[in-house]
Amino acid sequence: MDQLHICGGKPLQGHIRASGAKNAMTKLLVASLLSEKASTFHNVPNIGDVEITVNLCREIGSKIDWDKERQILHIATPELKTSYVPQRYSGSNRIPILMIGALLGRTDQDIIVPTIGGDLIGARPVDLHIHALQKLGARIEYREMKKEGAYFAGAHTGLKGTVIELLYPSVGATENTILAAIRAKGATLIKNAAVEPEIIDLILFLQKLGAHIMVDTDRTICIQETKVFQEVEHTVIADRNEVASYAMAAIATQGRVFIEGAQHLHMIAFLNKIREIGGGFSVKNHGIEFFYQSPLRGALHLETDVHPGFMTDWQQPFVVLLTQAHGCSVIHETVYENRFGYTQTLKEMGADIELFTSCLGGKPCRFAASNHFHSLVVKGCTPLSAKEIHIPDLRAGFAYIMAALLAKETSVISNIGFLDRGYEDLVSKLTTLGAEIQKISTPSGLECSPIP
Ligand code: UD1
Repeated sequence: MDQLHICGGKPLQGHIRASGAKNAMTKLLVASLLSEKASTFHNVPNIGDVEITVNLCREIGSKIDWDKERQILHIATPELKTSYVPQRYSGSNRIPILMIGALLGRTDQDIIVPTIGGDLIGARPVDLHIHALQKLGARIEYREMKKEGAYFAGAHTGLKGTVIELLYPSVGATENTILAAIRAKGATLIKNAAVEPEIIDLILFLQKLGAHIMVDTDRTICIQETKVFQEVEHTVIADRNEVASYAMAAIATQGRVFIEGAQHLHMIAFLNKIREIGGGFSVKNHGIEFFYQSPLRGALHLETDVHPGFMTDWQQPFVVLLTQAHGCSVIHETVYENRFGYTQTLKEMGADIELFTSCLGGKPCRFAASNHFHSLVVKGCTPLSAKEIHIPDLRAGFAYIMAALLAKETSVISNIGFLDRGYEDLVSKLTTLGAEIQKISTPSGLECSPIP
């Protein structure tokens, strides 16, 4: 059982390089399954979610050569060995469900994928995926298999392009529909589609692959049937979630960090909020520098939203940042109904946070009539004290890392597998920036005492 020991109180200082985006790379691997031809990816992050996706692709017959040192990955799937994704991938991450969209046009066999996992930050249903794929002509059933749930999908008479309007611009449902539409007959229009930078990266890859695909200004994506595929070389975009995480840690600890490869275009909403609280940033040619320049101002209202809004994955570390800003700030989480569970631990560390079920400060959101705590008020500045912390999900995990970096004594953080899923070289990057952090491996079940 690995743990992280962090002795905080030091500003983060220095230079790191942004890794490739988890939320893009995993989907690009799945998208490569559409074609029999080879794809080569650069800037591939060595993280748990990519490892899981590589294993998933190997299961169904992909030949993969991943040079982790050079961050280059070659994948080719000339033929499918099977279209059955084993149950052991159940709950692994959000990727298995996307295999349906990618494989529907490639096989006349049943595609069987286990139920999906990912962070426990809400119910995270897949109804929008299923409805869209059914509208394209797929038959999809949920069945119990070996006492666990699995989706059985097929399109034995082929898929046919149509107009699909998503009730909500879900990232995963948009991706799944795009993947299926590539091999569907004729044209498919996806209305109210998600247009996150990772989806645009997927679209760029698909265009290189041979697809005829358009994004209109009104969240409409138009895809024409593709019959001829090409070999592709593609460099994965920088991980905007990783960039925002280190940026917030730098400012909260009153430090200065240059993040090479950070993309301005993908960070607009984030940079505006950083400026609003008095955090410093300077966009350079090859990245963005983030720095503390004066006492941080709270009194902020922030609503998470779909792109181009403020991303929900930035919310958790941002709340830690706001514990270090003077005044009361209001956060309204409109993407997930249950993304504030992590605040209890922050309160135990000294944060002043109150949760509300109502929509605070903005228009009512989808969760207005529900009983979910999806607004909060955070009052700063509050010193944070060290604690033994158990990580419940990926971004809450980084929020806790930030809290531990602010606390002057040693915090012991467990369940760090969540961090490995999405943050490449976390310990070495933080060490480079001057953090006092150690990864301690203990035999399963044994706890170790904090570093002095
Ligand atoms: C992706 C990202 C995640 C990010 C999220 C929103 C990956 C691997 N993960 O997750 O980091 O936080 O986008 O930017 O890329 N929903 C439904 N029915 C559906 C699908 C979604 O109700 O069929 C709801 C979800 O419960 C959630 C909201 O839509 O409340 C957003 O989900 P979605 O955009 O699909 O997120 P993911 O693709 O799972």
